Amino acid sequence: MATVVVFGATGVQGGSVVNRLLKNPKYKVRAVTRNPDGEAGKKLASQGVEVVAGDANDKASVEAAFKGAEAAFFVAAYWPSVATLGLVGAGEEELVQYQNVAHAAAASPTLKHLVLSTLPPADKSSGGRLKVPHYDFKAYAVDWIQRTLPELWAKTTEVWPGFYDSNFAAFAMVKPLYLAAADAYLIPMPAKKSSILPVVGSVETNLGVAVEAILTTGAPAFSKLLVLVTDYVAAGDVPAYFSRATGKRAVFLEYSDADIITVFGIHGDEYAASMRWAAEFPVWEDPKVVADRTRLLTLEQVGLSKADLVGFDAGLALIKDKLVQ
Ligand SMILES: NC(=O)c1ccc[n+]([C@@H]2O[C@H](COP(=O)([O-])OP(=O)(O)OC[C@H]3O[C@@H](n4cnc5c(N)ncnc54)[C@H](OP(=O)(O)O)[C@@H]3O)[C@@H](O)[C@H]2O)c1
Repeated sequence: MATVVVFGATGVQGGSVVNRLLKNPKYKVRAVTRNPDGEAGKKLASQGVEVVAGDANDKASVEAAFKGAEAAFFVAAYWPSVATLGLVGAGEEELVQYQNVAHAAAASPTLKHLVLSTLPPADKSSGGRLKVPHYDFKAYAVDWIQRTLPELWAKTTEVWPGFYDSNFAAFAMVKPLYLAAADAYLIPMPAKKSSILPVVGSVETNLGVAVEAILTTGAPAFSKLLVLVTDYVAAGDVPAYFSRATGKRAVFLEYSDADIITVFGIHGDEYAASMRWAAEFPVWEDPKVVADRTRLLTLEQVGLSKADLVGFDAGLALIKDKLVQ
């Protein structure tokens, strides 16, 4: 059995990866958390996961987590640091975390495959006009690995998950607003109705499916990128998806950038920045976003088809009780 180190295992992305790999007898999962004795850590341990203490800011703990591992998955958290470090400061912290993980992976004598969850290069693709720190610092990390640790890059795969379906249930800025008097919902977004939202579908299922498929593919996936988007959805169509899942009436509401900043401060600014970039770069597989076409992996190249993924409609249906009051 190959040991796979999963960072963020107590969160959305890492949790999806753990759940999937646990069902595959080829893999032994080692979950990294800052708090192994917390509820989430204990739950993982009760499922047969090896739970180890680790903090991506602490190089020694990251190195220890890699001991004897053959593969690893990493995503930085970004958002929890925004309140204390600001938008760019949280990005700079992310960059250091990806670097710490990369150094530990490069130094590991056993590691065969590193999978990084990252996001598109907003800054680079727009020639520096549009910056989205929670995208850009992930892309800077990838550039840094390519330049600094080419041998590690030769066994690294990137995956870009689209906007989660579960944001509509759990992310305060995205969650639909209930109008009790009308028993209906407002879905506010810092976007035009025509703006395109690249959606990952059910993140709970799809990310794990994709990472398992990338690990199984091995060498043909090295130095490549899988764009994990099941649906490109016009913002103005989101209420129709919501209504199909919940049976409730819903309408789209356009926030101006100034409005969302008034309500959610710099967190709102970051959400708006991602939608400003999306207005010009709606499709992540586009040559304007991925200039090096040889880097793109198709689902088929990792042994998957769309039928293996849970799309936006089906994903929302699975979490419908969490979408409504
Ligand atoms: N929301 C979206 O639609 C979307 C789409 C694509 C990409 N993303 C990206 O997804 C990332 C967040 O992932 P998520 O949604 O899975 O996060 P999440 O559910 O909020 O969980 C965060 C995870 O990160 C871990 N973590 C936080 N700080 C850590 C540190 N210093 N060292 C080690 N682990 C740490 C936490 O583990 P412990 O607390 O147990 O230590 C937890 O497991 C962000 O970077 C965001 O940009 C989000």
